[in-house]
Amino acid sequence: MAADYDKHRFDTSGGRKVNQVEVDMLLRAIDGLPKDVNLLEAGCGTGRFLKTLADLGYAPTGMDPSNDMLEICARKLGEGSRERLVQGEGEKLPFEDGQFEFTYSIRVLNQVESPAYAMAFIKELIRVTGEGSRVLVEYMDVCRKKIALNRFRHGGGWAENDNSGDTRLDAEEIKKLVEAEGCKVVWIRGAFFSGMTPYYVLPKILLPVLGLFDSVAAKLLPRFCSRVYFLIQKP
Ligand SMILES: C[S@@+](CC[C@H](N)C(=O)[O-])C[C@H]1O[C@@H](n2cnc3c(N)ncnc32)[C@H](O)[C@@H]1O
Repeated sequence: MAADYDKHRFDTSGGRKVNQVEVDMLLRAIDGLPKDVNLLEAGCGTGRFLKTLADLGYAPTGMDPSNDMLEICARKLGEGSRERLVQGEGEKLPFEDGQFEFTYSIRVLNQVESPAYAMAFIKELIRVTGEGSRVLVEYMDVCRKKIALNRFRHGGGWAENDNSGDTRLDAEEIKKLVEAEGCKVVWIRGAFFSGMTPYYVLPKILLPVLGLFDSVAAKLLPRFCSRVYFLIQKP
């Protein structure tokens, strides 16, 4: 999966649009952070976000359980990057308390084994984030369970996707966890109200309309979007 991860997801007009929406969300969360801070992406995969941050002048740390993903990531980031790419898992992050000035995880929490694991993952992100710093987590909300498609675009065709296996979380539970950790929710935003699949199947000419529709719908109904983002502030 690691070898063709980027090709199947981000090498088309729709894929690039999907990537841009996610990158924009990350950049809004980072907004104004100086370049010399320690950043962590947990579940960095092949490193598309790390590469964006590196191109902006940051030196982010990436963590992932998959060595194959980390190898591709290291090639993408170039010389000297391997030492900032760490093998590990979200439930027990291999980092010190308060080690980072910003931590984030995107497209990972829906893939872990259970909601309890995902919540422990969020707690760990909060633990390794320093005082006065922020955490960005992206997840799939329980609100969307019933309207998720069971197929997704893969390469030129379709692949089956057993959504029953997606780990979905409840925003109220995340809020409770955040507050129990003494933190505050800065904002909750949604993306891809129409889902991601339309970006891969609609003609290119319709993508701006789809993007506009999704961004308006996301403002009105963030938790009903296929992806939801929490920005968390540590006191
Ligand atoms: C869909 S990819 C997303 C990668 C990257 N965040 C992105 O959006 O391009 C999911 C990644 O999460 C990683 N992952 C799966 N289970 C994990 C866990 N328990 N802890 C941390 N990362 C995990 C996978 O190895 C994979 O690289």
